[in-house]
Amino acid sequence: AAQRVGERPPMGWNSWNRFGCDINEDLIRGAADALVSSGMKDAGYQYVNIDDCWAEQNRTAEGKLEPSHERFPHGIKTLADYVHGLGLKLGLYTSAGTLTCQKTMPGALDHEEADAQSFADWGVDYLKYDNCNNQGRPAIERYTKMGDAIKKTGRPMIYALCEWGENKPWTWGRDAGAQLWRTTGDISDNWGSMTFILDQQVGLEKFAGPGGWNDPDMLEVGNGGMTDAEYRSHFALWALLNAPLLAGNDLPAMSPATKAILENKDVIALDQDWAGAQGHKLRDDGDTEVWAKPMSDGSAAVVLFNRGPASTTISTTAAELGLEGHTFRVRDLWTGTETETAGALRDAVASHDSSVFRVWPSTHPSAAPMTTLALPAPDYVP
Ligand code: GLA
Repeated sequence: AAQRVGERPPMGWNSWNRFGCDINEDLIRGAADALVSSGMKDAGYQYVNIDDCWAEQNRTAEGKLEPSHERFPHGIKTLADYVHGLGLKLGLYTSAGTLTCQKTMPGALDHEEADAQSFADWGVDYLKYDNCNNQGRPAIERYTKMGDAIKKTGRPMIYALCEWGENKPWTWGRDAGAQLWRTTGDISDNWGSMTFILDQQVGLEKFAGPGGWNDPDMLEVGNGGMTDAEYRSHFALWALLNAPLLAGNDLPAMSPATKAILENKDVIALDQDWAGAQGHKLRDDGDTEVWAKPMSDGSAAVVLFNRGPASTTISTTAAELGLEGHTFRVRDLWTGTETETAGALRDAVASHDSSVFRVWPSTHPSAAPMTTLALPAPDYVP
């Protein structure tokens, strides 16, 4: 069955968090190769996204964007062909302004149709559209113009707004043609930034659903500024939020611990659950938080998150997660261990770590031992 782009939160990799402007075609090809060889592709990661700094400073005489002669000498089309040959998809970046954020290349403001057509001609599958150097012009107008230009090319592309949540893009992003909208400013690779962004997601859950997702920014997992416990929390909470899962680390150099987090198929399944609702914060009590997500098969996912400086026990119940029944099957998604409970759920959670459980009523048909739930692809007739 055909799937509309963005029907589920996209998964892939983006160059920005780890490499900034220090990119070139070898690095991007290497990332694509590593997506395949590391098992990331098999886990569902598909997009290879080039961020800022890929183009020449000036447009051609015909007003077209030109890939950097130095960094991308064979052009974007050749790279897209390579990436497609691996069964992956290519993403590109520009800004709804006169220049991109790093000011190393032109933005697409007032060049929307020409640039969208270049992207389509090159075989681009995903556009991240930033907000820098926007000349104070209205956001909805700027972002809708590019959405229309992408549609006009006829090429299916994920359209990801990077407007930083300034004008509540969750209320107009879908109408602008987007499947994703950033909800905040940029993440950086530290605990304070990650939790600050997390806190700004509260209340946005009602705006997300198939084909239109809140984007709390890309993953920092494996970049070195947080502990593995903190990266587990970052990843589990982003999955619970149905965030795009865009790894931002150096894939060829990925540690086994990073790989185990990013490739955890049970946690990824929370993110990719297409008919369920986005997860949200159920409750907080000082440093401990309970985040939950109803799953489309009638189970529920829960993240027990310890923001405090010491290990502590966090508890919830199946009833609090909205489940009915006498007994429940509980899978610990980090360890794979399964247990039965009459309703109580509790765990000792280390400082800054998260326990992640998926809970099925025992009478549920899928309560038999199973591996990752296989989700049906929704049918879509354009
Ligand atoms: C902005 C975006 C980031 C990144 C940089 C690139 O800050 O929000 O995600 O794309 O620009 O310059």
